Amino acid sequence: MKITVIGTGYLGAVHAACMAELGHHVLGVDSRPDRIARLAWGEAPFYEPGLAELLTRGISAGRLSFGGSLAEAAAFGDVHFICVGTPQLPGSLAADTGHVEGVIEGLAPHLTRATLVVGKSTVPVGTASGLARRLAELAPAATAAELAWNPEFLREGYAVRDTLEPDRLVAGVTSEAADAVLRQVYAPLIEAGTPYIRTDLGTAELAKVSANAFLATKISFINAMADVCDAAGADVVTLAEVLGYDARIGHKGMAAGLGFGGGCLPKDLRALLARSEELGVGDSLRFLHEVDVVNTRRREAVVELARELAGGSLASVSVAALGAAFKPETDDVRDSPALAVATALHEAGARVRVHDPKAGDNAIQAAPALEHVPDVESAVEGADIVLHLTEWRHYQEIDPAWLGAIVRRPVLIDARNALPHARWREAGWTVRCLGTPGAGGGAAPVRHATQGAESQSMLSQQHQPGG
Ligand code: UGA
Repeated sequence: MKITVIGTGYLGAVHAACMAELGHHVLGVDSRPDRIARLAWGEAPFYEPGLAELLTRGISAGRLSFGGSLAEAAAFGDVHFICVGTPQLPGSLAADTGHVEGVIEGLAPHLTRATLVVGKSTVPVGTASGLARRLAELAPAATAAELAWNPEFLREGYAVRDTLEPDRLVAGVTSEAADAVLRQVYAPLIEAGTPYIRTDLGTAELAKVSANAFLATKISFINAMADVCDAAGADVVTLAEVLGYDARIGHKGMAAGLGFGGGCLPKDLRALLARSEELGVGDSLRFLHEVDVVNTRRREAVVELARELAGGSLASVSVAALGAAFKPETDDVRDSPALAVATALHEAGARVRVHDPKAGDNAIQAAPALEHVPDVESAVEGADIVLHLTEWRHYQEIDPAWLGAIVRRPVLIDARNALPHARWREAGWTVRCLGTPGAGGGAAPVRHATQGAESQSMLSQQHQPGG
């Protein structure tokens, strides 16, 4: 089939490469010329395992290309996937659907033959039916230009696998013809046994935001239990393990720590809240506000723990921040809990050196006031406190004895509960976490007695650029 993918961010670039891998002829279009130039060379414009190989393969096979206008896209494709960002609207909880609307406005006037426009972007329920009407109004092909909604559930870091081996495919359609086209697009996956669920536009839209809201709720639940564990002297890691053996609960999404961030979970949670208010059912989802609050409190709690370990004030304390990405296996720093904590520590007067194995460049752009360093050694040299903020494997492999010889004080906050604590404690480190007993070493908080009062404004980032 001839397919276009409009928008080549984390979603679109991966989708384009994966559609070519399935054997389709794919044209990727984006308003950012630099992005297109890199993709056309087969270069992944962000860190995503496996993507560069897929791009190279698709381009060499002559099935994948990038560039051109929406008019050229309309001439090329029979199916057009919309993969543009829907970031949080400034000053609001709602999602900004402007980019999606812009694609319909720009593409539709060029659609002269029967075609299927497929939304993959995450949008508030009710958006697609409005877009479908607009599409038929603007397209010379009128109602032969149809809209479907086919949400994407890929995770950054596993995006290629999640696209080629998804848990499920959701097709929000309004006709047999649209259903048939989507079944054809995904034929190899359906044949391989991937569940394909045909539904209406609204259910398809909701499938995505409610999945993300549920995942966020699960993470905040275990993080709220971490607070209970702290108060009771219990251990949230063991608790999560015990809970996870119940098949109805499961082990995934139960890693207590610094909480969720990224370009999706936080803004989708808020957008669903905003939409539920508009629909008059705000009361039903009010608990999602608490999910968001619990999540932001994780960041505050780590800053408070650092302050406590610094003896009451963070002024002039040297801090090593290990991790800047919002999670491992990505270079994405949008609404990153790690960067939010590092920034809050900096605002409280600490000297903060940030390291991340992949997200360094993006971290420099997002938080230029912080000191960004290229290796762990430069981050920890002379540090009073080391914070483990993103659970990269790289950090799990650190030799704590080696690190102990470089720092000024061997004090670790493992905000992700992911390092081998026994090993670190054996090497003389004081290890503190959220939700697990803070035994070990008992390093005296030796610093200043004055309580700093830093701004918490950076702890919850409200607006992120789309991607
Ligand atoms: C999320 C969803 O998992 C995808 O299904 C969805 O397609 C995607 O958003 C999207 O809307 O595009 P992603 O943002 O890549 O994917 O990240 P996750 O792996 O879900 O992690 C989100 C955040 O939760 C990260 O900050 C991570 O550190 C945190 N997390 C995750 C925890 O704190 N604990 C956990 O147990 C799991």
